Amino acid sequence: MQSYLDKALIEYSKSKVYPFHMPGHKRIQTGLSDPYSVDITEIDGFDDLHHESGILLEAEKRAAELYGTDRCFYLVNGSTCGILAAVRAAVNKGDRVIVARNSHKAVYHALELNELDPVYIYPRINERGIQGQVESRQIEQALKENRESRAVIITSPTYEGVVSDIRSISEICHSYNIPLIVDEAHGAHFGFGGGFPENAAKLGADAVIMSLHKTLPSFTQTALLHLTSDRISEDKAAEALDIFETSSPSYILMAGMDACIRQLTKEADKLFGAYRKRLDDFYRRTENLSHIHVIRRDDWSNTEAYDIDDGKVLIDTQGNISGKKLYDILRDKYLLQMEMVSGNFVLAMTSVMDTDEGFGRLAEALADIDASISEERYREDLRKSNCDTIYRNNIRKLQIHEAVRKDSEHIALKDAADRTSAGYVYLYPPGIPLLVPGEVIGRDTIDDIYDRIGQGMDVRGIVKGNKSGDYSIYAVADF
Ligand SMILES: Cc1ncc(COP(=O)(O)O)c(C=O)c1O
Repeated sequence: MQSYLDKALIEYSKSKVYPFHMPGHKRIQTGLSDPYSVDITEIDGFDDLHHESGILLEAEKRAAELYGTDRCFYLVNGSTCGILAAVRAAVNKGDRVIVARNSHKAVYHALELNELDPVYIYPRINERGIQGQVESRQIEQALKENRESRAVIITSPTYEGVVSDIRSISEICHSYNIPLIVDEAHGAHFGFGGGFPENAAKLGADAVIMSLHKTLPSFTQTALLHLTSDRISEDKAAEALDIFETSSPSYILMAGMDACIRQLTKEADKLFGAYRKRLDDFYRRTENLSHIHVIRRDDWSNTEAYDIDDGKVLIDTQGNISGKKLYDILRDKYLLQMEMVSGNFVLAMTSVMDTDEGFGRLAEALADIDASISEERYREDLRKSNCDTIYRNNIRKLQIHEAVRKDSEHIALKDAADRTSAGYVYLYPPGIPLLVPGEVIGRDTIDDIYDRIGQGMDVRGIVKGNKSGDYSIYAVADF
């Protein structure tokens, strides 16, 4: 039977599956109804995103005002194009930059395209296998040792909701007169109260990139790039967006963004107040589980996280069931689609659009599963995942741009130790590379990759052989 995307989506929309994943509108219609009736191009009266002077500039100004920034660019190619543009605008080719190693692949692509020389900061990974904050002392140390650095690039919040001390980090960057670029793709809902952290733009970051679609009621692909100082030139950012963003931006997406910004301007207090009540209620209902554990604010130490976004619901299996099994049970038995699974935990993404019914269904499902684990109904052969393996401190032999332009070959993964990676290898989600081009492929990393495959994770950048069934990896050619 053939399946067709349009029909499959309509079918899916009629199902009872509840979305604990992006986009943040949770498939609840807030404005636009028939997409065909409002899908246009740059006709008279509707401005041009790449040369905005009318209705789109006004919309961007409203977004800048809402977030308290100097300049806001609408993005329709996600935070990805905002990250590429911000980095290009902030640096010159070949510059040294300080980069958190837990960055999304978009940041690595920016390093590659600008032929940058990154010095990595390694956020500590906690005993649950979750990456922690970037500490301000790490940035200070890196800048002291690399005075020629031209920018600092970090992610806050992380995919799992860990927030770094942006105020202190930006003060340190500014004392060296360089910009701080914050990938705040998961933090567009910050700064509106409800007990959520303040927005990085208000805390001194010079460029902040946020995906509206991840945590707010806005269409997939919609995002914002904010500039807050003249450490990054507005003209250069616009020039870079001309390269990285489509020349046919969708008016449906942009109209959805304007509606989202308007909704927040009018109703943020009400929306975030109600959201906080639902979240608190959910955390109360799930505090006494025996075998699985819903991670809460007090589980984090001050060194692990400066602050957290508890709208990211992290469910720790505590080794009593695999993350993958919990994820599958939630989807197949309870019709609850989660955002992400890792070895020992599952991530549910929530937003102001989640309902009492949704939170209630998740709380009940977790109680039910917890009881079933007591009765040993979900017994499985468990290998507790090695938690330290999101990435390792790999040796770098070549810069990224050098490695990707060398001759390369596919070699068997099991035989790849000590070779230099020619490609990115990462789990998706979250898209943080285990291996970056130019890094030496360690035996430990190969073991990590096999472990992740064994856990049923989606490892990208390796290829499964048809005949051997084993995997191969892309390495810089050895001849
Ligand atoms: C931390 C982080 N940064 C950037 C991105 C890219 O965002 P987008 O998908 O909006 O391009 C993602 C996507 O998941 C992400 O998790």
